[in-house]
Order: sequence, then structure tokens, then C-alpha cells
Amino acid sequence: MKFHCITFLFFLLANHFLLRATSAQNNFIECITSKFQASNSSQNVIYTPRNNAASYSSIYQSFLGNLRFLSTSPQRPLAIITPTNESEIQATIHCSRKHGTQIKVRSGGHDYEGLSYISQTPFAIVDMRNLRAISIDTQENTAWIQTGATLGEVYYTIAETSRTLAFPAGVCPTVGVGGHFSGGGYGMISRKHGIAVDNIIDAIIINANGQILNRNSMGEDLFWAIRGGGGTSFGIVVAFKVNLVTIPETVTVFNVSRTLEQNATQLVHKWQYISDKIDENLLLRLFISSVRSPAASNGNRTIQASFTSLFLGRVEDLIPIMEQKFPELGLVEQDCIEMSWIESTLFFAGFPNGTSLDVLLNRTQQNSVYFKGKSDYVREPIPEHGLQGIWNYLNEENGSQLQFSPYGGALSTVSESETPFPHRSGNIFMIHYAVVWTTDSPRHINWIRRLYRYMAPFVSKSPRAAYFNYRDLDIGRNNIQGNTSYRQASVWGFKYFKNNFNRLVRVKTKVDPSNFFRNEQSVPPLSSN
Ligand SMILES: Cc1cc2nc3c(=O)[nH]c(=O)nc-3n(C[C@H](O)[C@H](O)[C@H](O)COP(=O)(O)OP(=O)(O)OC[C@H]3O[C@@H](n4cnc5c(N)ncnc54)[C@H](O)[C@@H]3O)c2cc1C
Ligand SMILES: *[C@@H]1O[C@H](CO)[C@@H](O)[C@H](O)[C@H]1NC(C)=O
Ligand SMILES: *[C@@H]1O[C@H](CO)[C@@H](O)[C@H](O)[C@H]1NC(C)=O
Ligand SMILES: *[C@@H]1O[C@H](CO)[C@@H](O)[C@H](O)[C@H]1NC(C)=O
Ligand SMILES: *[C@@H]1O[C@H](CO)[C@@H](O)[C@H](O)[C@H]1NC(C)=O
Ligand SMILES: *[C@@H]1O[C@H](CO)[C@@H](O)[C@H](O)[C@H]1NC(C)=O
Ligand SMILES: *[C@@H]1O[C@H](CO)[C@@H](O)[C@H](O)[C@H]1NC(C)=O
Ligand SMILES: *[C@@H]1O[C@H](CO)[C@@H](O)[C@H](O)[C@H]1NC(C)=O
Ligand SMILES: *[C@@H]1O[C@H](CO)[C@@H](O)[C@H](O)[C@H]1NC(C)=O
Ligand SMILES: *[C@@H]1O[C@H](CO)[C@@H](O)[C@H](O)[C@H]1NC(C)=O
Repeated sequence: MKFHCITFLFFLLANHFLLRATSAQNNFIECITSKFQASNSSQNVIYTPRNNAASYSSIYQSFLGNLRFLSTSPQRPLAIITPTNESEIQATIHCSRKHGTQIKVRSGGHDYEGLSYISQTPFAIVDMRNLRAISIDTQENTAWIQTGATLGEVYYTIAETSRTLAFPAGVCPTVGVGGHFSGGGYGMISRKHGIAVDNIIDAIIINANGQILNRNSMGEDLFWAIRGGGGTSFGIVVAFKVNLVTIPETVTVFNVSRTLEQNATQLVHKWQYISDKIDENLLLRLFISSVRSPAASNGNRTIQASFTSLFLGRVEDLIPIMEQKFPELGLVEQDCIEMSWIESTLFFAGFPNGTSLDVLLNRTQQNSVYFKGKSDYVREPIPEHGLQGIWNYLNEENGSQLQFSPYGGALSTVSESETPFPHRSGNIFMIHYAVVWTTDSPRHINWIRRLYRYMAPFVSKSPRAAYFNYRDLDIGRNNIQGNTSYRQASVWGFKYFKNNFNRLVRVKTKVDPSNFFRNEQSVPPLSSN
């Protein structure tokens, strides 16, 4: 009896949902198709499961970096729109408003929780891949960069123009400008030149009414919000204008690794006292993982700490700094390689010496693993016993890795409220926790959550801060209907943005009061009732 009732109820719900989804799908697709037919662009711009199923699937999956979302997404997009200009974005917004279809915007598709391409409600993807022009002004040393570009394309284009210009942003070349620049953007020259948002000077955004705005017409509040508060909550960012930075023609890189037997624990401990204070031309990033001990034939494991570093200068100037501030590492000239900045971007992306710069233009990311990441900020050095506890966790989990990214330098000279990215003075480093696996099992996510709990005493508190670009739905999520309350959203809001969250809510309330642009973790407007 009970069984029947439940089955019947399920049937009703499922039918109701299918009907609604189908009519939403038809209306929305009819709307955009008719708009785009007028301009004769529907063939190459609109992809649906019906009009060209093969391209639809390959476009949907081409930027999926994470197997976690390939099978679990309860909905596929009704359509993928790949606009070639602003009027096609306006048309999509218009149809989406009219038919209540949610829009997700995808630039590089690297969102840690897949928020640019999965959804719980009927939705369409605006995929920015066709809007990726980069134009550099060598008089002003500025660049206009469309958000569909990748970091690799940005770096490549800058280097094609000049050997002494660069831009401070992330390490992985397939990361997209749209998500990365609007959410922060930390990379190997950030201690000298800040993060991406610190160097943005103008932007073009299309708002919920379909208006195309630049810095002047959007006003300073909205312009502030999209430099670290994420694009998603406020509109579709079409392009950013940035200041390029000046770098020497020759830089120096090294990547030296030490195991526990080589004093890794003491070295990591000492690193915490110097990495944020050392010469800002030097960024000593740490990658830590569990490896099979080279000394042990019995499969014993050890911890390996790799000091993966960039110095904006020659090796002869680097060695004395290391001898004075971090002699314990024992860095010698033979560990160091001099190269150009653009070659260093290949080095840090893991390409072997001699790889052609063209690989920076390859937008395809490896997508054969499951992945979960989290972040923390450290304001007091972690004692050695605390580090040893971390090592135990790493030894438990094969696919695990920690990154310690040093702050200080230019990151600290900006006030917490200058941009929504609030992680400034007082932070020694950020921890990035990552685990990858190939056969699905909840064990791995449980592992990273346990490690995160273990870390609580050693990291920032009230709020326990987190980096927005390392999106983590564990720290709180929105109500998917789009009616998230301020209280609900402030659970994650203060972690990502500290007190800037309140200003983001005010901007959102002003520019998108009906919450048209939303996702599982977007800034909510204050409701009028
Ligand atoms: C392999 C890898 C390496 C990384 N390395 C670094 C690093 O070195 N430093 C660092 O700081 N971060 C790094 N990140 C994190 C990265 O900065 C974020 O994941 C970033 O949000 C990715 O941007 P995207 O455009 O590729 O992602 P997407 O998934 O396309 O977008 C991310 C979010 O931004 C929104 N969005 C995208 N484009 C727009 C737009 N045009 N307008 C409005 N909203 C938009 C999306 O809707 C989504 O919510 C890395 C991530 C990965 C997966
Ligand atoms: C946008 O592109 C379409 C198709 O190429 C074209 O017909 C239309 O005129 C373009 N609109 C603008 C404003 O450039
Ligand atoms: C529209 O595109 C089709 C196919 O590419 C082409 O044959 C036709 O001439 C185009 N029409 C206009 C008005 O441009
Ligand atoms: C490790 O540290 C000890 C004590 O500081 C030192 O004597 C020893 O040489 C170091 N070992 C290595 C491999 O550097
Ligand atoms: C291997 O690990 C065990 C337990 O930690 C330890 O007792 C043993 O000495 C280690 N062996 C080697 C060769 O390191
Ligand atoms: C640095 O060295 C470690 C250990 O050999 C290696 O796993 C890692 O890929 C290297 N990093 C770079 C950027 O070469
Ligand atoms: C890197 O490759 C170049 C040639 O492509 C070579 O001259 C140089 O010695 C190499 N450097 C190292 C450190 O292997
Ligand atoms: C681009 O990168 C992908 C993923 O790393 C790789 O499989 C592919 O071979 C690369 N393509 C080219 C042309 O290098
Ligand atoms: C890690 O991998 C090794 C070899 O691939 C395997 O023997 C071991 O059981 C794995 N350990 C864990 C904790 O998964
Ligand atoms: C949001 O809307 C849903 C569905 O209408 C409702 O169940 C839920 O209670 C609402 N939540 C809030 C916080 O208002």
C-alpha cells in the first residue's frame, strides 16, 4: 500500500517536471532560434540535443575538467549558446528572462564545483569560447581581453608583443579569464605585482536588462564588485581591460624537493617564517605530497616538499638572498635555470624544457580524473607537530596534494576593502588542498573533509577564510530556487569576502534585484519584503 502511494506520487512529480521542462525548453529554444535566424547565425551559435546532437555533446564535454560532474548532473543544458558578439548575448538574456530559463556562463570551465555547466533547474549555457580576442596597447601597456580567452592565450599574446611585459595571474594555461579574473587570480608573480583583480582598470559587462556597460556607465560599485566578487552574480562580463606589468628579460626558476629524511618538516616549518617577508621578486611556492620513500624498498612512504619558485632577476642575485634568508634549503646555482618569463609559464605548467610556446594555445584540459579542492588561510606558523599530523593524512591518500602559496609583498599593500578579495595583510600563506581519484568512491571526499576538520586550530578563524576561486560548496550553499536569504548566504559569504560581503549584497540588490543571475553560490539581493 505504502509502496504504491510513493510510486504514484513519484510518477506525478516526474511527469509534471518533464512537461514543465519540455515546454520551457521549446519556448526558450524557439525564442533564441528566431532571434538568431534573423542574423543567420543560429547554425554555429546554438547547440541543442536536437539540432546537432554530436556537436552539442562535444561542446558540453570539451571543458569538463572534472569527472565528478559528468555523471551526477541531474540536468543537461537545454542549449549551449556560443555567442560571437554582444547582441547575441543580449538576445539570450532576453529569451532566458522571458521563459524563466536559468543561464550559466562558462569561460574556461574550471569551476571547482562545476557551477558553470551543471544545474538543478532547467538551464542554458552561454559559453564564451568565441569571444576571446586580446588586443594589446604598447603605448599604454594595457590590454583588452575578452573573457573567453584562456590564461595561456593571454600569456602567449603578451609575449608575442613584448619580452618585458607580463600579467600576474594563475599557473594553469587552460583556466579561463572570465571566472579567474572576476574571482581573484593568483600566480607566480603575485608577490611583486598583486593578483589579477589588482590590475583591472575597465570592463564590459551585460546586465540583467541586457544593457552593455563599461566602467563609466556601470559605476564604481559594480566595477568594484566584479573585481573579486565573481562575475556570476552581476552579469555576463564580456571583456576586461588590464594594466600589463614590467618584468626583466631574464628570470630564474627552480624546483627543489626534500623528503622527511632530508629535513622536509623543519624546512616547511622555517619556510613559514620567511616566505611572506622575503624579497617580493621571489615567490617560493610549496607543493607537498606523499611519495614512496626512495630509501625504502618495502614500500614505506615519505613526504616530499617541492619548493617551486620564481625569481624576477638573475641567478647571481637570487643565491645571496637564499643564503641569507633560507640557508637550510641549501639552494645552489645548479638548481636554478634562467629563462624568459614566458618560458617560465611553461615550466610552472609542467611542460618539459624546449616545449614550443604553442602549447599555451591548447584549450583542452585533461579530464580523466575526479577532483575535489578546498582552501584555507594561515596567519600564524603551524608548529612542527601540526605539520606531522598533516603528513599522516597525506600518507593515507594517494591522490592528495597540498599547495602552500605565499602572500605578503604586493598582496599586502592593498587594503581589505579595496576589492572584494579580502585576503591581504596578516596572511602568511594560503593552503590549497586537493585530491584526485579515478574510480568513484565517497572515500576521497570524506578524506579531504577530515583533513579540513583537523586543520581548524591552525588556520584563520571567525571567519575561517577561503579563496572564492577555489569554490567549495561544503562551506555553505544557496537555495537553488533563487530565493536564498542573506543569512543563508552569509555562511559562505563572509569566508570568501569578509566584510566586503555586505557591500556585494548591496551592489547585487541595486543591479539585479530580481536575482536573474544566480547559481548555487551567488550573492543574493536583499528582498524587499
Ligand atoms: C587546473 C586548475 C588550475 C588552477 N590554477 C589557479 C591558479 O594558479 N591561481 C588561481 O588563482 N586560481 C587557479 N584556479 C582556480 C580558477 O581561478 C577558478 O576555477 C576560476 O573560476 C576558473 O575560471 P574559468 O573561467 O576557467 O571557469 P568557469 O567554470 O568557466 O567559470 C567559473 C565561474 O565564473 C563564472 N563566469 C565565467 N565566465 C564568466 C563571465 N564571462 N561573466 C560572468 N561570470 C562568468 C561561471 O559562471 C562560474 O561561476 C585553477 C583551477 C583549476 C581547475
Ligand atoms: C552579431 O553577429 C551576427 C551574426 O554574425 C550579425 O548578424 C549581427 O549583425 C552582429 N551584431 C553586431 C552588433 O555586431
Ligand atoms: C544564411 O546562411 C546560409 C547557409 O550558410 C546561406 O546559404 C544564406 O545565403 C545565408 N543568408 C543570408 C541572408 O545571409
Ligand atoms: C637536517 O638537519 C640537521 C640538524 O639541523 C642537520 O645536521 C642535517 O645535516 C640536516 N640534513 C640534511 C639532509 O640536510
Ligand atoms: C618503514 O616504516 C616502519 C613503520 O613506520 C618503520 O618501523 C621502518 O623503520 C620503516 N622502514 C624503512 C626502511 O624506512
Ligand atoms: C617539481 O618537482 C616535483 C618532484 O620531482 C615534481 O613532482 C613536480 O612536477 C615539479 N614541478 C614542476 C613545476 O616542475
Ligand atoms: C633547455 O633547452 C635548451 C634548448 O631548447 C637548451 O639550450 C638548454 O640547455 C636547456 N636547459 C636545461 C636546463 O635543460
Ligand atoms: C592539447 O591538450 C590535450 C590535453 O592535455 C592533449 O590531449 C592534446 O594532445 C593537446 N593537443 C595538442 C595539439 O597539443
Ligand atoms: C596507494 O597506491 C599503492 C600502489 O599504487 C597501493 O598499494 C596502496 O594501497 C594505495 N594506498 C591507498 C591508501 O590507497
Ligand atoms: C524558497 O522557495 C522554495 C520553493 O518555492 C521554498 O520551499 C523555500 O522555503 C524558499 N526558501 C526561502 C529561504 O525562502
